[in-house]
Amino acid sequence: MSSLKTRIQKHNSTVIKTNMPPGPFIAKNPQVIAVLDAVSFPILFDTSKVEKYNVLDGTFLPSLSFTGGHRVCAYLDPSETKHTALKSYFMSVLASKHSEFIPLFRSCLSQLFVSIEDGIASHKKANFNNLGQAMSFNYIFRLFCGKDPSETAIGSKGPAIADKWLALQLGPLFTLGLPKFLKYVDDLLLHTFPLPFFLVKSDYYKLYDVFYASSGPILDKAESFGVTREEACHNLVFLACFSTYGGLKVWFPAMIKWVGLSGEKLHRQLADEIRTVVKEEGGITIQALDKMVLTKSVVYEAFRIEPPVPFQYAKAKEDIVVESHEAAYKIKKGEMIFGYQPFATKDPVVFDHAEDFVGHRFVGEGEKLLKYVYWSNGRETVDPTVEDKQCPWEGYGGASVQADVGGVLPPLRHV
Ligand code: HEM
Repeated sequence: MSSLKTRIQKHNSTVIKTNMPPGPFIAKNPQVIAVLDAVSFPILFDTSKVEKYNVLDGTFLPSLSFTGGHRVCAYLDPSETKHTALKSYFMSVLASKHSEFIPLFRSCLSQLFVSIEDGIASHKKANFNNLGQAMSFNYIFRLFCGKDPSETAIGSKGPAIADKWLALQLGPLFTLGLPKFLKYVDDLLLHTFPLPFFLVKSDYYKLYDVFYASSGPILDKAESFGVTREEACHNLVFLACFSTYGGLKVWFPAMIKWVGLSGEKLHRQLADEIRTVVKEEGGITIQALDKMVLTKSVVYEAFRIEPPVPFQYAKAKEDIVVESHEAAYKIKKGEMIFGYQPFATKDPVVFDHAEDFVGHRFVGEGEKLLKYVYWSNGRETVDPTVEDKQCPWEGYGGASVQADVGGVLPPLRHV
């Protein structure tokens, strides 16, 4: 995204016209208006002014074969009745799992650290990212299906299948990281033609069948929201493999990296806060997490400095005037708006030392800045509803990850 930075400097503006991949055989129109500061970015959340129809991945929609022929919830605009049905259904599923999030996440994390230590003991090394991905998949599978994936026909293949399925859908957005003079290789291989579903079809249906067979009680609930079991199950696979597995795969290592790098002093302060609250509350519970103001701030700070889903898109429903810190811009009806979130959440006008990880940033008065944390596709101070496109995991997400910082993060165990 260094090209965006150059353009901001060249035009002396944080709202600019640009093109985004993929090319014209995949996307009808690659032109976007990029909103790249904390003030203009939230136009993407205002569903009275912007439409969120089929824009999850940007200027193109992957083949619906990847989702069993259905437009899953994340592709739907809030004005569609199906969006209301699916989002209410998933909000109710998440609410029914409320008491399971934290104990389950902690149990999966303990298993992760056992696997890491086993790897180190027997091979002198362990691949944190691979083990972390397996943990994320196990977590979401156990949450929705009530059993470990190893007890089903997919065994330990879930993460590999999810990776392949994700890569084929999102391929048009990737770059191979080749030198500039080989850019045409990227364009030819990834940005010209969509990657076909048949390459993952049999694996996808293996996954689907396992979810269908194992998530009975959740699927039973779907019918009362006007959603068939089949459509609910394709949505469930999408939630598990795209939203959660895809989200945690990026988020979890980033979180560990930032907290790990944050220095001994902060580690000690975190450990003190966590020990004190755990003693008072008798364990890591939702109430206990709420009292851990520093731990919460650290989690928000990691969401701010490296938002797990950096791109957001929306189409102007009408002519809109969008404001940045210094100017106002007219966006015409039908134009695509693109937000690159790390520029918005590291806006130096809003955040001091915006490029630095500041653990205490959101403590005390700093809480006022939470409205500029956008990881969930909405402000951190706002709760998701069926009328918006904010991630329904907002609220649970922070708490689960906080449970990880609070419970078993390795640096903290030794301070
Ligand atoms: C680290 C994990 C996660 C991250 C980073 C994340 C992030 C996001 C983001 C950025 C969006 C908005 C996409 C857009 O419209 O541009 C979204 C939407 C959504 N997320 Fe999450 N999410 C995570 C986990 C989850 C989980 C665990 C669930 C549910 C089990 C979930 C369910 C959804 C749903 C249903 C939507 C669509 C909302 C709507 O259509 O109104 N997400 N998520």
